[in-house]
Amino acid sequence: MQLKIYDDHHKLSDAVADEIMSLVKTKPGAVLCLASGETPRLTCQLFVQKVKNEKLDISQLTMIGLDEWVNIPPSNEGSCHYFFKNELINPLHIPEKQVHLFDAMSDKLENECRRMDALIRNNGGIDLMIVGIGMNGHIGFNEPGVSFDNYSHVIDLDETTLTVGQKYFKSKATLQKGITLGLKHLQESKKVLLLANGAKKAGVVTKTVEEEVTNTFPASIMQTHANGFVMVDREAASLLKQKN
Ligand code: F6R
Repeated sequence: MQLKIYDDHHKLSDAVADEIMSLVKTKPGAVLCLASGETPRLTCQLFVQKVKNEKLDISQLTMIGLDEWVNIPPSNEGSCHYFFKNELINPLHIPEKQVHLFDAMSDKLENECRRMDALIRNNGGIDLMIVGIGMNGHIGFNEPGVSFDNYSHVIDLDETTLTVGQKYFKSKATLQKGITLGLKHLQESKKVLLLANGAKKAGVVTKTVEEEVTNTFPASIMQTHANGFVMVDREAASLLKQKN
C-alpha cells in the first residue's frame, strides 16, 4: 500500500479522475468499481468533464456499484443508484447494460449477490476499485467484524453507519441492512484507491494506515494490498505520523 497526500479535495479528486481516464485509455474494456457518497462525488464530476473535453470513448467500460441500502428504491435521492444516475449515467448517457448496480429491492438478495460475483468473475475481475471510508472504518458496507474472505453479501448495518447514513436522505430513512461487494473483491482487484478528505476523516485515516490490520477496522485491509493507494487531502492526513 502507498499513501498519497494532496493539498485539498479538488486536487485529490482531479488525480482520481485522471486515474480513471488513463485506465480507459489503456484498457477500454476495463471493469471499474465505484463507491458513492460525498467523497467520490467531485471525482465523478471531474471525470464527466474530462470525458466530454477529450471526447473519450467509454462505450466498452463496465461499471459496478460497490453497494446499496437494502429496501431503499433507486428513486430515493439517498440511494447509491440515484448517485450513479445523477453523477455518471445521465451526464455521460451511459447505456444501462454497461452499469451494474445491486437491486436492493429484490426479494432474492442472495441471488443478487451471486449475480454480482459472477458478473465480476466473467469480466475478468475488477481493474480499478475506488472506495471511501466510513467513520467506523467500513469500506462499502463491510462493517466492523466482517470477514476479509467475503464476496458479495447482505449485512446488518453498524450503529455508526445507521446514524451517519442519514446525511444522504432528505427525510428520515429506515435503514437496516446493506448489500455490498466483499473485501475479497477488494483484495482481488488489480488496483484499489481508498479516498478520504476533511478533518473529520483524520482519525480513521490514521487507523487505516498506521494501526494494526484487523477486521474490527475493515479499512486496515488496505495495508495488505500490493497495488493499494490511500489518497487523502492534507486535512485527512493531519493526524498521521508519516506525512510524506
Ligand atoms: C458508499 C460506500 C460507503 C462510503 C463511506 C464514506 O457507496 O461504499 O462505504 O464510501 O461511508 O462516505 P462519504 O464519502 O459520504 O463520507
